[in-house]
Amino acid sequence: EKGGYATFMEKEINEQPAAVRDTLLGRTDENGRLVLDDMRISEEELSQIHRIYIVACGTAAYAGMTAKYAIEHWTRIPVEVALAHEFRYCDPIVDERTLVVSISQSGETMDTLMAVKHARSLGAKTLAICNTHGSTIPRESDAVLYLHAGPEIAVASTKAFLGMIAACYVLGLYLAQLRGETYADDAKQVMAELHGIPDKIQALLDDTERVKEIAFFMADTRSVLFLGRNVGYPIAMEGALKLKELAYIHAEGFAAGELKHGPIALIEPGQPVFIVVPGPDTPHDLHKKVVSNIQEIRARGARTLVIAEEGDEDVVPFADEVIRVPQASPLLEPLLTVVPLQVFALHLSTAKGLDVDQPRNLAKSVTVE
Ligand code: F6R
Repeated sequence: EKGGYATFMEKEINEQPAAVRDTLLGRTDENGRLVLDDMRISEEELSQIHRIYIVACGTAAYAGMTAKYAIEHWTRIPVEVALAHEFRYCDPIVDERTLVVSISQSGETMDTLMAVKHARSLGAKTLAICNTHGSTIPRESDAVLYLHAGPEIAVASTKAFLGMIAACYVLGLYLAQLRGETYADDAKQVMAELHGIPDKIQALLDDTERVKEIAFFMADTRSVLFLGRNVGYPIAMEGALKLKELAYIHAEGFAAGELKHGPIALIEPGQPVFIVVPGPDTPHDLHKKVVSNIQEIRARGARTLVIAEEGDEDVVPFADEVIRVPQASPLLEPLLTVVPLQVFALHLSTAKGLDVDQPRNLAKSVTVE
C-alpha cells in the first residue's frame, strides 16, 4: 500500500508531480480558456467580486498566503488570508460581493467549516478548494474546486499543499480571465508554464541525496530557522511547520526583511538557517536583498542552507550548502522550493527514529474546534 516506500509521507512526496498534473488536468478548453467544473456561482456574480478572503489552517493557510501574491497580481482584487479560527471571531468585513475561499485537504476541519458557515451567514459567496470528494466543507459551499491529488494518508501534508497552490492559481487565472482580455493573455502563458512544473518537481525528487545527508548530520539540532521573502515567505513558514510536526524541533519561519527588526538576534555560531532565495529575475531586486541577508547572517556565524535556482552563482560565496531548484518564474517558484524542505523534514524525522506518518499529538483531520 506504500508502493515500495518506507512511509506514506515519502510516497506522497514522490506523488507530487502527478498531484500537480491532476490538479491542472482539464482546466482549459480548446481555445485555451480556463474552465472550472463544479461552479455553482454564476460568472456574472464572480465578475462582480471585489474582495477575497482565504480561510484555512496550518499548511492549507500557507498555501493561501502563497496564493495571495499571485491572485492579487493577476486580478487586482484584494485578497486577505485569515486563519479560519481567527476569521470566525474577528468580525470580518464581508458582503455579497466578497468571495470566501476555503482551503482544506480533508474538507472536515472544524475551524475551517465554521468559518465557511459564518461567511455564508454574512452573505458571502463561498468556494471550497478541497482534496476530499463529498466531504463536509465542499457540501457547505457554493462552489468547489477539487485538487484531485489522490488520498493523503500521512498526517503531515505534502502533495495536497502543492495541489492547493496549483488550484488557487487556476482560480486566480480564471478570475483574471473574467476581468477581461488584458489579463487573459497572462493566464494562457502562466497555465502553459504551470503544465511544465510537474517535470521540474520530478527533477528535484530525482536528486535528493544531499538533502538527505544534511538531514542525517543534523539529527541532534535543537533549532532551525527559515527565511523567505515574497512567495518564499509562506514557504519558509511551511518548512518550519514540517520540521516542528515531524522532527519535534523548534523551528521558525521569518520574512527575510524582518531579520533586522529582531530575529537576527537569534543568530549565533552554528545556528542552521534555511534561506529560500527568490530567482534572479524577481522584481524589485528581491534576489539581491535576500543574498545580502544571507551575507549578514553568515557573518554572524549562521550555517546557511541556501535554496536557490540553477545557475544562481551570487549565493555561492555565502552558502554552506546550496540546494538547487529548476528555474521558474517568480510566482511559480513555491511549487519547487518547498520540496527540499519537505524532504529535509522527512529525513530528519527518520534520522531521529520518529514516526513519520503519525507524529505525536496530531490527527489527520481536526474535527473539533
Ligand atoms: C500540516 C498539517 C496541518 C493541516 C491543517 C489543515 O502538515 O497537516 O497543518 O494542514 O490541520 O488541515 P486540512 O487541510 O485538512 O483542513
